[in-house]
Amino acid sequence: MKKKVFSVLLAAAMLAGCSNGGASTPSAAPADEVKTYKVGVSIYDFNDNFMTLYRNEIEAYFKTLETDDVKYEITMSDGKNDMGEQSNQVDNFITQGMDVIILNLVQTSSADALIDKIVAADIPLVLINREPLAYDENNNTIDEAYEGIINNPTVCYVGADARQSGTFQGEIVAELPDHGDINGDGKVSYIMIEGDPENIDAQYRTEFSIKALTDAGIEVECLDDQIGNWKQENGQTITANALSQFGDKVEVVFCNNDAMALGAYAAIEAAGRKVGEDIYLLGVDALEECVQKVNEGTMTGTVLNDHIGQSHTAVDVAIKALNGEPLDNYYWVDYVKVTK
Ligand code: GAL
Repeated sequence: MKKKVFSVLLAAAMLAGCSNGGASTPSAAPADEVKTYKVGVSIYDFNDNFMTLYRNEIEAYFKTLETDDVKYEITMSDGKNDMGEQSNQVDNFITQGMDVIILNLVQTSSADALIDKIVAADIPLVLINREPLAYDENNNTIDEAYEGIINNPTVCYVGADARQSGTFQGEIVAELPDHGDINGDGKVSYIMIEGDPENIDAQYRTEFSIKALTDAGIEVECLDDQIGNWKQENGQTITANALSQFGDKVEVVFCNNDAMALGAYAAIEAAGRKVGEDIYLLGVDALEECVQKVNEGTMTGTVLNDHIGQSHTAVDVAIKALNGEPLDNYYWVDYVKVTK
């Protein structure tokens, strides 16, 4: 990108030089010509509730930043939760000569392949929502300084630290008068409903929600831990099954996101249980329906996954890249606890 900006400046300087002699060089752009930047955005799956809010805000915010001279032409593509499909979209973005790409990966394990081709095409890249991480297989640890990001000055990641959201979920339970131990048997018996296990958001929320409880000295018992892939219908089925298997033993339902919590709520209601009285229910995202539920007491709490802050940061960073400004490797947006 820097190279591109430089050559544009160079061309402009050369034209300025030429125009001393003859006023109307045909290729000289009029000073007031509108500059339209082409922005390619690929979202992992248009069916995802949270990413729908996020992508709508990307488009809306770009619009607010347009001026008489600068316009943004957004191509918004649905990755359909299919890595092959998304990879083709990126190929098309390159062929179409996008000026910047914003990418919500279907699979973070494919990050390298996509980053490599985008960098080779000299297009700046803003990764969002699904953070690629490198795994150190020898130590079985996660490397949070991803080479594809730290080694490429035109690639960055905008997101939120999912550890924080998990911690907030656990803290909400720890801060309840009975600390989540409704039946008073000295431990919090819970079920965990996980998002896509490939996402660090799912891994960290699962781990850190429980860590917040144990760090507070609370004993825990995991009755069930199932994968719901971020989907409402899965949250409902998993909760319905767990409630019929474990009945009153289930004191807390932790969901890695609000969509699954909405499904869990339907199952809780169908089983004749009452949130806040004989069961607790937690989500993440702060979807409008869930914030309403928290306020009316039919959800115990959620955590704001700030799609406004994240989408605006992603767009601001994309524009920095378009202007040839240097990028940081990572841009972080905070989560916020949501309780009554
Ligand atoms: C999470 C969000 C989920 C889902 C997921 C997709 O941050 O909480 O609801 O959108 O991202 O990667």
